[in-house]
Amino acid sequence: MQKLNRSIITGTGAAIPDRVITNEDLEKLVDTSNEWIVSRTGIRERRMLEEGFSNADLSEKAAREALSRAEVSASELDLILVATVTPDHHTPSTSCILQARLEAFKAGAMDISAGCTGFVYALSVAQQFINSGIYTKILVVGVEILTRFTDWEDRSTCVLFGDGAGAVVVEATEDENRGIINFSLKSDGRGAKLLYVPAGGSAMPASEETVNNRMHYLIMNGNEIFKFAVKAVEDTLYDLVRRENKKPEDLDMIILHQANLRIINHIRKHLKLPQEKFPVNIDRLGNTSSATIPIAMHEEILAGRLKEGDLVAMIAFGAGLTWGGVLMRW
Ligand code: COA
Repeated sequence: MQKLNRSIITGTGAAIPDRVITNEDLEKLVDTSNEWIVSRTGIRERRMLEEGFSNADLSEKAAREALSRAEVSASELDLILVATVTPDHHTPSTSCILQARLEAFKAGAMDISAGCTGFVYALSVAQQFINSGIYTKILVVGVEILTRFTDWEDRSTCVLFGDGAGAVVVEATEDENRGIINFSLKSDGRGAKLLYVPAGGSAMPASEETVNNRMHYLIMNGNEIFKFAVKAVEDTLYDLVRRENKKPEDLDMIILHQANLRIINHIRKHLKLPQEKFPVNIDRLGNTSSATIPIAMHEEILAGRLKEGDLVAMIAFGAGLTWGGVLMRW
């Protein structure tokens, strides 16, 4: 059988807007309380991108840091993948805007839309191009500007989301002991309307009526998503480890999508694993969708907790419905 290249992450970066929105700020906007938000979600504050800046700005900042840490020049990139559901425009893709800004003129570029699972999907796509030997250097960005699609009159959603970007450089390696080991990508479109933006697409183009009815904002069935998320994470985790004849306790780190601290704690307790194996940034950043995992990864590297040789699972779930994970030896 042909020997496949392994894919390793050689650099990470993140971009977090400066503007902090606290739970107390939200108490002034909708009928909510710091106590409710913290106890139901674990979120204390989130970040909001300043007016005049966009998805591509945050993407660029995170990407430049990842490239610099990987010591890779943008001109060497073969492909740019941007996982997002909040792009600058319907078309062209944010990845093309980013490609031009980085002057990565050799690279192909495309956005990947898979809800909050977007980064896991994009990383898996990158791995395929590297495994096949076609490409050797790929930039993967997970980025969202969700505050622009949040209904600030809907207390059930506006307390949850925030803006941010994370980026990684994925490169080919011949080191058989490191890199992405396997992945799992799943979807169930029967749950499409559990988390969606009704208007603004071809199904319901923007009109005075859609704007007046606030149909360009996210609508969510939180309870159903919660139940789905807990099962999706556990199924994915067992799928990833069992295929390698391993157990959850063999993992050094489990980077879960940051949608609700209660989901993370529920999984952790059910698996009876220590808290330090589960990075958390939802308390400070809220749910940044496609960006939660790459930001967490970057933070863990900076803190010295994620180290070469660690066995790491990244697992996400989100709109679509989509869910999935990546298992890698860092
Ligand atoms: N402040 C105060 N009360 C609120 C509130 C808020 N921000 N949002 C909702 N409530 C109220 C509800 O109106 C409801 O009131 P009622 O009992 O009078 O009808 C009550 O709180 C309980 O609502 P419920 O939706 O059952 O709360 P919950 O414990 O399920 O928590 C979520 C709601 C959204 C935090 C939780 O369901 C969740 O996190 N779901 C997953 C969401 C997710 O992961 N989304 C992203 C996917 S990537």
